[in-house]
Amino acid sequence: MQHATWSDEMSIGHEVIDTQHKRLLVLVNDVAEAVDKGYEQEAVGAALRRLCDYTVDHFATEEDLMDMDAYVHYDQHMSEHMDCTNKALEFLQAFSSGQQVDMRGFVDFVSKWVYAHIMGTDQKLGEFLRQQAQAAGA
Ligand SMILES: [Fe+2]
Repeated sequence: MQHATWSDEMSIGHEVIDTQHKRLLVLVNDVAEAVDKGYEQEAVGAALRRLCDYTVDHFATEEDLMDMDAYVHYDQHMSEHMDCTNKALEFLQAFSSGQQVDMRGFVDFVSKWVYAHIMGTDQKLGEFLRQQAQAAGA
């Protein structure tokens, strides 16, 4: 499976978030690798759970930085996070209950989602945080 790799153009200019995004890509790749190498279900499940847990924490970090009244993309950003979380948890639940799941399809969805989200919506958050920092410093 094609792996997601970090590139500097993905930076949103916020150190904490960039560091978390790098870690997120590593965890996505861990799941992809577990599937590619045909690891036991248990190991695939562990990688999947690590990814889901980290994603939930990461979204919370971003959401804490959003000022609901000043950040104009707040609703859109929150709903993207919610959609992704719901899809991931639904998948994790199906996987954990032993249902037949399309693992490759899921990994493909997650890697594309993460890349598109960082390059789109998260960049807007980066812009907002820069503006806020500038205003605070002015
Ligand atoms: Fe985000």
